[in-house]
Amino acid sequence: MTQQRHPDAPVAPRLTLTEKAALTSGAGDFVTSAVDSADVPAVTMSDGPHGLRLPKETGDGGQVDLRSATPATCFPPAVALGSSWDPELAHRVAGALAAEARAHGVRVVLGPGINIKRSPLCGRNFEYFSEDPLLSAELGGAMVRGLQEAGVGAALKHFAANNQETDRMRVSADIDERPLREIYLRAFERIVRRDRPWSVMSSYNAVNGVTLSENTRLLTDILRTEWGFDGIVMSDWGAVRNRVAALRAGLDLQMPGTGGRTDREIEDAVTRGDLDESVLDLAVERLVRFARRVNGATGGEADADEHHRLAGEAADRCPVLLKNDGGLLPLDPTSGSVAVLGELARTPRYQGAGSSQVTPTRLDTPLDRLRELADGARIGFAAGYALPGALPPQDRTEDDLVEEAVRLASSSDVAVLFLGLPAEEESEGFDRAHIDLPAAQLRLLERVVAANPRVVVVLSNGGVVRTAPWHEAVPTLIEGWLLGQAGGGALARILFGVVNPSGKLAETLPLRLQDAPSHLSFPGEEGRVRYGEGVFVGYRGYDARDCEVAFPFGHGLSYTTFAHSALRVEQRADGAVLDVTVTVTNTGSRAGREVVQVYSSGPAESEVTRPPRELRGFASVSLAPGESREVVVELTRDDLAYYSEREGARRVEGGVYRIEAGSSSRDIRQSSELTVQGDPSRVALDGRSTLAEWLRHPVGGPLLMERFRRARPEGAGPGAMDDPAVRRFLVGMPLEVIAAFPQSPVRPDALGELADLVAASLPDPSGQGE
Ligand code: BGC
Repeated sequence: MTQQRHPDAPVAPRLTLTEKAALTSGAGDFVTSAVDSADVPAVTMSDGPHGLRLPKETGDGGQVDLRSATPATCFPPAVALGSSWDPELAHRVAGALAAEARAHGVRVVLGPGINIKRSPLCGRNFEYFSEDPLLSAELGGAMVRGLQEAGVGAALKHFAANNQETDRMRVSADIDERPLREIYLRAFERIVRRDRPWSVMSSYNAVNGVTLSENTRLLTDILRTEWGFDGIVMSDWGAVRNRVAALRAGLDLQMPGTGGRTDREIEDAVTRGDLDESVLDLAVERLVRFARRVNGATGGEADADEHHRLAGEAADRCPVLLKNDGGLLPLDPTSGSVAVLGELARTPRYQGAGSSQVTPTRLDTPLDRLRELADGARIGFAAGYALPGALPPQDRTEDDLVEEAVRLASSSDVAVLFLGLPAEEESEGFDRAHIDLPAAQLRLLERVVAANPRVVVVLSNGGVVRTAPWHEAVPTLIEGWLLGQAGGGALARILFGVVNPSGKLAETLPLRLQDAPSHLSFPGEEGRVRYGEGVFVGYRGYDARDCEVAFPFGHGLSYTTFAHSALRVEQRADGAVLDVTVTVTNTGSRAGREVVQVYSSGPAESEVTRPPRELRGFASVSLAPGESREVVVELTRDDLAYYSEREGARRVEGGVYRIEAGSSSRDIRQSSELTVQGDPSRVALDGRSTLAEWLRHPVGGPLLMERFRRARPEGAGPGAMDDPAVRRFLVGMPLEVIAAFPQSPVRPDALGELADLVAASLPDPSGQGE
């Protein structure tokens, strides 16, 4: 009789040391090793994240040719999807990605990328969602669910603090614990805890001097022990420096493989006794579980037409109508003349460069789609400028292109001018040096506006561009980002009003690059980048410094208008959840979608410096003209916490918070106050703690006051603490210094007993966390 093995039975004992070591690195560039004897299948992976980058197998030992790729649907990249503020949409896009993955035998999609946009200059910002961790987590988490519900693994990346491309393979991101936890790890934490990705990709960089692939604290202590991650950690491609140290730190899989070279290092280390074999066995068990998990679902077909349609539907939600003075948009498709200007209308940019570059199944251009939708309106086109690499035809100079465009603009009712960044300016691998549009485009813009002030500017860019000061002179401006292969249709639909724009900025558009909170410490020097702005990243920093911006975080207009009313903030019985309810009314004459954003601030007496407002939740609602609906945004009490470095944990301070609801971070429509019971303090007190710290402490404060009272003779006049100036002077002193004064009401020998009483009142530290 053959013995049936339990599917969860450990596999490591049945494998040789060589087989085990081989499992912990790739067998090729995008595939892991199979172990047939133990029913461990190979895992095939593909970039990611907004479409599959399907390398053509060369048939050479699993090696691949990265230059050519089989076509796949190019959905809107994260920069655009971020502006949709629509997790449900991100979920559907991920479902379609999963279907394509399955159809091509791909088991893991290398994404989503959820790094925070710390600086507008990061060359890879087009691959990330937002400057805000909550928004990044909601969209990234939805993608993880969308992939994994269809049986395809997500690889949440790049863990962690990979916020620049300059020196990305070596640089140390030097970040204080509070910003690390509140900003840079926060989206990872939310997704790992809630959406349970099957894999995480560790980044190239170091954090506080320790390279990620060998960072035990991040890969093991925080990711697994604190957050309960149960998947595998794979390296970014080529990120491992010391394979044995990496394995020990919690990195299960080195990608790509090294043809067995570093596997032998593992074997040698085990044989020599330098690496405990149980460390290898643990990684093997995780990898086996992972390989089985991602190989659970097979086959299926992807419908290219349907996916192109979905890419278009997704793209409809992403462009942000930044301004629309005088209601120039939408254009009337039935009459008038429209000058479509700019090479980008004919040769669109729709994704960034690097490992996420997809070969699309087809490509819509705005110009073609505008012509298609025009039903009486006359469409003229002039290129206006040449894109680098596509030189103007021999017989036309750059000036000729400008003159042609200006002539067309002046003879048309309205000019729609497509401007944006040339592809060469943004890619994985390097950062941008400035945020300006090309000078030739700005010259064209000036001439066009002079010729016909009825100008609509449509931007195509992956990282933000400076719109000041020229946006003042332009009545209508759309931030079109990079919209994927079907973006041309989406822009045409928005311009002609077939679709009402509903995107909202997922990052601030500054007036000047110098205003960016990270400006003076980006991208660092001599191998280190100090995140000097702390938690004041993006709008948190612009708001804290009261800095004027071109367009704020969360901003985005519609062809209709919305009124917000009847804000209610209700704490559920257990106090852990808050329901924020807003009634939204469509007060215009077109159907539209509004994204209600909920921010919190406070408490007023916070012990740490807090940003003026922080996004805590959002929800969207689609409304017919005149229609009203209630929108409920659910917050948890924990969302109000800050990360206390001293306590080594998130901490909700007691006090009065302001809960704000609005249409952007700078268009707050309603607010309400909320009194919150704080967490019991977990801080021990001792003689080095200041008088203020003692007095603030829920146990230490009353204890000390009692001692003060006891030490004062009956009927004594006012004491030192009754004089406000003396009190202010004293409260900043460590208690042991005060106790050393001969007239002090507490004696030095009493401090130990007081500290013990406080310590005994502290909650058990094992009960921490979300
Ligand atoms: C990128 C990753 C990508 C990997 C594989 C790396 O250069 O940083 O995002 O998934 O290559 O192509």
